[in-house]
Amino acid sequence: MIKVCFVCLGNICRSPMAEFIFKDMVKKENLEDKISVCSMATSTEEVGNSMHPGAKSELDKNHIPYTYHQVRVLSQDDYAKYDYFIGMDASNVFHIKRIFGEDKDNKVFKLLNFSESDKDISDPWYTGDFTTTYQDIVVGCKAFLDFLKDENNIN
Ligand code: 4NP
Repeated sequence: MIKVCFVCLGNICRSPMAEFIFKDMVKKENLEDKISVCSMATSTEEVGNSMHPGAKSELDKNHIPYTYHQVRVLSQDDYAKYDYFIGMDASNVFHIKRIFGEDKDNKVFKLLNFSESDKDISDPWYTGDFTTTYQDIVVGCKAFLDFLKDENNIN
């Protein structure tokens, strides 16, 4: 099983959106027995909370199913438990590496680095624009799934 963890600052907007968008892609390609997906926060800011209503309505608008989500915070012992930690922006990547101390197995990436762009996924907590965030996450997730399939010889 390939274990993927999407990571953002609060785990209420971008990383849960990426989790459910990616789960939908994985399901549509019949890869659920090969790839598991979750999401976590680098900060404790939103502990106890669920997905942001704006994230839920963007997923609804695009017919992406989601289940009950509860904020989880990344910790050092998660490093051994997952194969890929995918940050939404450069700051997330910085904080993921800060939490782990090092990335000796090269597991930490930024989502859009799998696409042709080097952009960050903008944070709708600040921009209020869940649609642009959704579209950029879809681009990144498609590219990441192609990468995973290549890397792991999955057809
Ligand atoms: P996210 O957005 O990292 O995409 O979940 C944020 C959510 C909460 C906060 C910042 C960003 N906050 O400061 O509480």
